[in-house]
Amino acid sequence: MSDIVTVIAPVNIAVIKYWGKRDEKLILPLNDSVSATLDTSVMCAKTSVCARPDILENEIWLNGVHSSFCNQRLQNCLTEIKAIARNQKSVTDEFLSWNVRICSVNNFPTAAGLASSAAGYACLVAALAKLYKIQSDISKIARMGSGSACRSVYGGFVRWHAGVNPDGSDSIASQVADSSHWKEMRVLILVVADTKKHISSSKGMTCSVETSELLKYRVEHSVPKRVKDICEAIKDRNFSNFAEITMKDSNQFHAICLDTYPPCVYMTDVSHKIVEIVHKYNEINGDVKVAYTFDAGPNACLYLLEKDISDVLSLIRHMFPTSSNEFVKGLDAPETNKTDVLKDFPMKPLEKDLIKYVIYTKVGDGPKIINDESHLLDAQGKLV
Ligand code: DP6
Repeated sequence: MSDIVTVIAPVNIAVIKYWGKRDEKLILPLNDSVSATLDTSVMCAKTSVCARPDILENEIWLNGVHSSFCNQRLQNCLTEIKAIARNQKSVTDEFLSWNVRICSVNNFPTAAGLASSAAGYACLVAALAKLYKIQSDISKIARMGSGSACRSVYGGFVRWHAGVNPDGSDSIASQVADSSHWKEMRVLILVVADTKKHISSSKGMTCSVETSELLKYRVEHSVPKRVKDICEAIKDRNFSNFAEITMKDSNQFHAICLDTYPPCVYMTDVSHKIVEIVHKYNEINGDVKVAYTFDAGPNACLYLLEKDISDVLSLIRHMFPTSSNEFVKGLDAPETNKTDVLKDFPMKPLEKDLIKYVIYTKVGDGPKIINDESHLLDAQGKLV
């Protein structure tokens, strides 16, 4: 009989964005991208998997809901892992013939539009790789589930190399620096109150590849230099360079979204206010202290150093009044007190509750196997 394997895996937030595929089926990108992996103690996906002879068909539960296994990306990941296991003879043919049961949950709201598919696929692939005992680069397999998932396979700062091979064999992620390299780096995710249904990343990027002229320029001219420069900034722990490149790349990505026909509008008025506030704050300080970046939605992800957390949280509370008594979630936030900078801050506070809440987190490690028996499936492979 088989054991249950349980894994937790992190979210990652790109500082050089992946936007555009050269192969839709294998999920091969047009350009390299770079991200930071976030601490699993604050946000993570958790997945339990098992294979048994008495499971009649492959089954999956996502956040407690029995979901369809007829998902091509999910099937591609399972097929690839089984093919590697068959090749490496890492498990018996009998084990390979059994069906699987998968149960996956996120400890953060998927509806908040946070990078849930990246954590989810990295987690699933890490768990299946362990179940089938394969020795392989799992970033390549996670990529087949969702492009950005390949970066969640490693901790710290991670680069996804676009690669050139048509079979995707060189389209893999690698670590630029581990999570202990830049210990002071912190992240604030500003979850913007928003009810709009957004165009999915997949659909949006397909449309950009077909219609945006700016995208071609970005891929050929902007990204290669930015990737090189930001990797150097990470290695040198040069925050102002890191921050400037991050903001410029987010802005260019959203310019491409607007250059797409019909346009993909992800940022809202609140997102643009956050951009304005960050630039004002940096200007007043005479130094780049905070960087923003936005994915395919209105939420802002701010990168900053630990020494500035208290001041920046004061600024956010001041500019975005809240009626929530649990406004800052995640790591223990330091006491916030109004600083001199805040008294002279040249912008008026905005109306209440434009930001739902803030997640305070930091850079963390890659997927971890959980051995504490807190599985999502019991010994018979049933949901707990
Ligand atoms: C804007 O990885 O979600 O977050 O490969 O189609 O699953 P698929 O797309 P996905 O795209 C993420 C796009 C992004 C930028 C990034 O994370 O690099």
